[in-house]
Amino acid sequence: MGVSPPRLRGWTGTTVAWMRRQNIVCGRGNNNDYLERLNMIAFKRITVLLAAVGAAALAFAGDTKQTGTMQRHGMMPHATDGRISLGLPEQMKTHQLMNMRSHLEAIQNIIGLMETGDFDKASEVAHTRLGLTEDMKKMCSMFKNEEFRNLGFQFHNSADALSETLKTKDMKKSLHALQNTMGYCVRCHATFRQ
Ligand code: HEC
Repeated sequence: MGVSPPRLRGWTGTTVAWMRRQNIVCGRGNNNDYLERLNMIAFKRITVLLAAVGAAALAFAGDTKQTGTMQRHGMMPHATDGRISLGLPEQMKTHQLMNMRSHLEAIQNIIGLMETGDFDKASEVAHTRLGLTEDMKKMCSMFKNEEFRNLGFQFHNSADALSETLKTKDMKKSLHALQNTMGYCVRCHATFRQ
């Protein structure tokens, strides 16, 4: 007889129960074809489910592989970081990073002032914010690592040399001096970490 299956809502168990009920209610006739169709639907659903689980597992494996690549390329800090640690206490760390961000900003200011031809102002910024002022001397002296301290002093001296060069208003010489000063940023960052 023409019984059409209910909308298969999610659960194979419900469907199977319904199939059984249909058998009892109908009592006669051969429902085998019909049962087979329902079985196929349930089978397909399970296959789809397994495929989804498999895809998720593959995606997860892909992620793990990517993490491995990041580690190899040193994008994850400490995993392959061979730099010397300064062993700074927490408070000094925050202060150093603040100071560093100020250095970076000073470099940006200097470049901007050079571009607009304001060499005198650029010279002033180079000395007051990057040069070996009394404050900088004090700060550098607080570091226990001698090599770091020396590199710090050389860096600040180079900034004072940059300040003098900027006074000449010679773009090429100024760029050369700036490049020299920035060489210390690069060198120190390559050697030390907090
Ligand atoms: C004598 C060493 C030294 C010099 C010179 C130096 N830095 Fe740093 N800088 C450090 C250290 C150490 C850190 C912390 C790095 C770490 O622990 O990974 C740092 C961190 C920084 C940071 C990160 C700040 C943050 O908030 O995370 C910036 C930006 C930076 N420096 C800019 C500069 C610039 C620009 C210069 C040059 C004009 C410079 N530094 C020169 C030692 C130096």
